[in-house]
Amino acid sequence: GEAVRLAVIPGDGIGPEVVDEALRVLAAVSDGTDLEFEQTRFSLGAQRYLDTGDVLTDDDLVAIKGHDAILLGAVGGVPGDPRLAGANIERGLLLKLRFELDHYVNLRPSVLYPGVASPLANPGHVDFVVVREGTEGPYVGNGGTIRAGTPHEVANEVSVNTGYGVERVVRYAFAAASARPRKRLTLVHKTNVLVFAGSLWKRTVDAVGAEYPDVTVDYLHVDAATIFLVTDPARFDVIVTDNLFGDILTDLAGAISGGIGLAASGNINPDGRFPSMFEPVHGSAPDIAGKGIADPTAAILSIALLLDHLGRAGDAAKVRDAVAADVAERGDAKRSTSEVGDAIVARIGALD
Ligand code: NAD
Ligand code: IPM
Ligand code: MN
Repeated sequence: GEAVRLAVIPGDGIGPEVVDEALRVLAAVSDGTDLEFEQTRFSLGAQRYLDTGDVLTDDDLVAIKGHDAILLGAVGGVPGDPRLAGANIERGLLLKLRFELDHYVNLRPSVLYPGVASPLANPGHVDFVVVREGTEGPYVGNGGTIRAGTPHEVANEVSVNTGYGVERVVRYAFAAASARPRKRLTLVHKTNVLVFAGSLWKRTVDAVGAEYPDVTVDYLHVDAATIFLVTDPARFDVIVTDNLFGDILTDLAGAISGGIGLAASGNINPDGRFPSMFEPVHGSAPDIAGKGIADPTAAILSIALLLDHLGRAGDAAKVRDAVAADVAERGDAKRSTSEVGDAIVARIGALD
């Protein structure tokens, strides 16, 4: 087949460490298949900013757009580093990519693999996916501040929800729910307080739901959703929610299903007009960077999401099977980043 053009953004801190292992897994699973990757590395992140003053240039963006998909490690420096005060790496790089590349679906699966410890005593069978809206909500940066620095300051953050934007992500979520065995969709919002956006989301789910009689729909306010994620996470199948609620819920979802070292994500442009971007949910972890002890599993599971996106469900399943086998035997053993990568690569080899 034709080579997939993969933009690789290792980023800062543990980003390059986990990306190295993810790429080894990608090579192992592609080995002996018609799947080929042509990689371009982009040096972006806090370090690039410190070295050059650039966060993401127009040239970077054009070059990235010329790829079929993106693998990102993590970007960002030590929180509070005064040298980074002028650069908002999160907004100027990560969110800029999500917005410019129209990643309107932020896909965040939570699976508690057998043998993985959860902080919950009786988690049950945890296997759900959060479809987080990725291009709207309070993340658009449509706010502003007046009388800044005075006692009369007013700081507004405006949540933008468009009929177009809500409908397309809701449609994606219904299609996802319909393709899963349990066919359940939960809308999470705060319709009792955020009445305008809440009403738009609710009406959209009702309207699109009429086209999916096979999908069972329910609704939870976001505060109640946090209760059920802890008391009965097995009730969830597909959750659809706005950008900010989805951000918060998916950290909680990661925590109950094995921790930040296992949480993978895909920022998807389902139309395929722009490259989708796959990344672990975690950040650059400056506290452990350079020590070779970061868990690369979240980055490796992000490779499985990349393979799904490329229509290679069988290869994605191989990666997940290898991870499942590895985590089942992991126990408390302290392994290095590359030892975890080695073990998963070896298991993929053994699956053939
Ligand atoms: P973080 O996720 O980097 O770290 C939180 C804690 O989790 C730390 O104790 C860290 O050591 C641990 N941790 C994270 N990933 C791990 C892994 N793979 N294996 C083992 N332990 C792991 O969050 P933070 O400290 O709030 O942020 C650090 C920097 O990363 C900040 O600049 C932040 O803005 C940025 N950030 C980037 C992304 C991204 O690139 N997508 C996401 C979140 C945070
Ligand atoms: C995430 C992160 C980002 C977000 C930040 C770093 C901008 O928390 O990927 O969940 O809020 O989306
Ligand atoms: Mn987050």
